[in-house]
Amino acid sequence: MKRVFSGVQPTGNLHIGNYLGALKQFVTLQDDAECIYCVVDMHSITVPQDPKLLKDHIKDIAALYMAVGIDPKKAIIFVQSDVPGHAELNWILTCNAYTGELSRMTQFKQKAQGRESAPAGLFCYPVLMAADILLYDTDIVPVGNDQKQHIELTRDLAIRINNKYGETFVVPEGRFVKSGARVMALDDPTSKMSKSAPNEMSRISLLDEPSKIKKAIMRATTDSEGVIRYDIENKPGVSNLLSIYSAFSGKTVEELEAQYQGQGYGNLKKDLVEVTVNALAPIQERFKEIRYSDELVNVLKDGAERANAIAEPVMKRVKERFGLGL
Ligand code: AMP
Ligand code: TRP
Repeated sequence: MKRVFSGVQPTGNLHIGNYLGALKQFVTLQDDAECIYCVVDMHSITVPQDPKLLKDHIKDIAALYMAVGIDPKKAIIFVQSDVPGHAELNWILTCNAYTGELSRMTQFKQKAQGRESAPAGLFCYPVLMAADILLYDTDIVPVGNDQKQHIELTRDLAIRINNKYGETFVVPEGRFVKSGARVMALDDPTSKMSKSAPNEMSRISLLDEPSKIKKAIMRATTDSEGVIRYDIENKPGVSNLLSIYSAFSGKTVEELEAQYQGQGYGNLKKDLVEVTVNALAPIQERFKEIRYSDELVNVLKDGAERANAIAEPVMKRVKERFGLGL
């Protein structure tokens, strides 16, 4: 059985882009692989966090994992900082990563913008991510396209160390979702839907109220042609609405084009509101049941123990190869 590892940062609520682009895949994979899903809290402190809010966000993401259908009986759900191996392996990998390759990471360049005061943790972010993955002898890492460069670095580090110290790590592969799963911002369909965009109406969060969902969709940017057709180049707004509709309803884009032939954008949007609200309702209901329950705490404790049981022998092997300790 293949082993799968992925992580999501506990920074705010997840949106439908995270869900359609990543979490939905996490759920499908749990039936065919040994899956480990992590709330990567140590990654989130590469930028300043309010400690109290962070604690809440960790539980939010863990509860959302379960609410979307990740089953803790099948998959391991845990919090990164509960397993010490992540920080330990991070250091060993840091000593084997080149400052040159880290300074070429586009995410680092975007976030640091050349500032002298950029935290060193931001620079080392991809190394910690590599540690997350290599700590579990991971075969497959399901992530969005934006993480491609980080997966390449992880593979490079694993191969480099294997060559230098003998077989130490499993070399993982990224599993990237198809471009159709890239959900764009509602107010600007040329940029990705994102947690951090200042305009709340640019995204639909998994926990949004129906009234907010309605407002965001009815205001979504379209075009003046008035024809409902998928054409990402010339009609990015309408195409994005069709993709979201298709993903939530299970109808193909072609079926939707036929269904809405001769109709205006208003009808499409009105129906999309209903489809989205109905798709999110069971997730929101389950979230409410779990979020403040003992069940959540127990799942995370149990998850950390199971994760640690896999990580410890890997750490032992790594330390042995490097000649660390007694
Ligand atoms: P992030 O919110 O950047 O921590 O991303 C969590 C996961 O969701 C990653 O696998 C991302 O690639 C994926 N993701 C983030 N935004 C989108 C989007 N707009 N469309 C599709 N997938 C996304
Ligand atoms: N960097 C990832 C993101 O922003 C989150 C992440 C951290 C991750 N560690 C990971 C994803 C390990 C997959 C595997 O989306």
